[in-house]
Amino acid sequence: MSDKLVIDFDHHNPAYRDNWAEEAEQRATHCPVAWSEAHGGYWILSKHEYVAQAADDPDSFSSSHNNPEKPWAKGILIPELPYTLALSESDPPVHHARRLIEAPYFAPVAVRQQADVVKGHVEEALDRVIHLGKLDFARDFAMRVAAKTTMALVGIDPERWEEFMLAAHKASLLPTDHPDYPIKEILNVQTKMREVLRERKEDPRKDIISALATKKAMGEPLTEDVQVGMLSAAIFGGFGTVMSATLSVLLWLENHRELYPQLLADDDLLDRLVEETLRLNPPNHGTARTVARDFELHGQQLKQGDRVLLSWAAANRDPSVFECPAEFRLDRANGKDHFSFGGGEHRCLGAPLARVEIRQMVRAVINRIPDYKIDHSQITLYPSFANTAGISSMPATFTPPAES
Ligand code: HEM
Repeated sequence: MSDKLVIDFDHHNPAYRDNWAEEAEQRATHCPVAWSEAHGGYWILSKHEYVAQAADDPDSFSSSHNNPEKPWAKGILIPELPYTLALSESDPPVHHARRLIEAPYFAPVAVRQQADVVKGHVEEALDRVIHLGKLDFARDFAMRVAAKTTMALVGIDPERWEEFMLAAHKASLLPTDHPDYPIKEILNVQTKMREVLRERKEDPRKDIISALATKKAMGEPLTEDVQVGMLSAAIFGGFGTVMSATLSVLLWLENHRELYPQLLADDDLLDRLVEETLRLNPPNHGTARTVARDFELHGQQLKQGDRVLLSWAAANRDPSVFECPAEFRLDRANGKDHFSFGGGEHRCLGAPLARVEIRQMVRAVINRIPDYKIDHSQITLYPSFANTAGISSMPATFTPPAES
């Protein structure tokens, strides 16, 4: 039996945020399975192959949380969340049954029907600021579009987006055990979710909230706590992530304006730009699992109850999968093999919608404010890259259209 390979690693530490890219590539190559003593101790899986294996094997790597049958399981965040994300933090067969309730609303055909709604939110966000000649791409644009799109999708008036999303934004900035973690605000938002769920149970419509309020999983109606937990993942999961991804694309595009005509004419090129940006700048650097049985991986002994971080960020930079992984290449043959949307059973339900949102926002910027100039001195990153990673504020100026 070998000793643990212990590394100095804490995904909440600002030092991780500032040095992660090179470190992630090194980890994928030299420390594919390693242990950190931070936050009570956890394994970090960094090799593409092992991350894929873990995401595909819920019998060995459990996502459960607050499950009396698996008291050792602590869910998908390290430290654990003070509430349960009932879809993300469940295992098959329960997970599968719950996912089937939401899946039709996220399917590509449903997302295509949402495209005009997304476009409306994109145009509205730009209409509000275009006469000013300046905006914050985060607050005034991508945050607004992503939040309103998600609200419309689940079935809540998009104009109420700030009521539901700002607490989640605050929460994404802090570790769950931080004294300022806004748990009261999150619980307040969840109270509002309960109100809408009860209304919709009485008066169902064709939306996710009505489905959660009325449909069954494994032959049983969902408890209200499960409904709220599932709605929380749908609402909170598709907001900071889409914002961060969009800002990363716009940051890169500022120095590649010569591609504008091609990007507008060629959807495939735009897709490849989005995927390569997601690979190199994942808005979610990793989610956790709990080891469900004792076994050995890469010479390391994993024990039931051990916490594990699946490092999507490192897998995305594994040189055994991505040639010269730090290089931005629009012509990568395997560019879509990244883990920025996770993998396996829990792969992001919102991925098709996120792609539509990002593409629409990029197209609108190219069409309406093509000469945008980012104020690089004012770019702000998320304080920790543990929950949401990337840029959280990005002010820019541009020439307002003559008629405004
Ligand atoms: C660029 C944008 C996005 C990124 C990077 C992202 C990332 C992820 C990742 C990594 C997971 C897997 C978590 C795990 O395995 O533990 C996930 C799951 C999930 N995401 Fe996203 N997401 C994005 C957009 C969205 C959107 C727009 C929505 C909804 C409006 C959404 C809803 C969800 C849900 C419901 C799950 C749980 C799926 C399950 O457990 O079966 N996401 N996301």
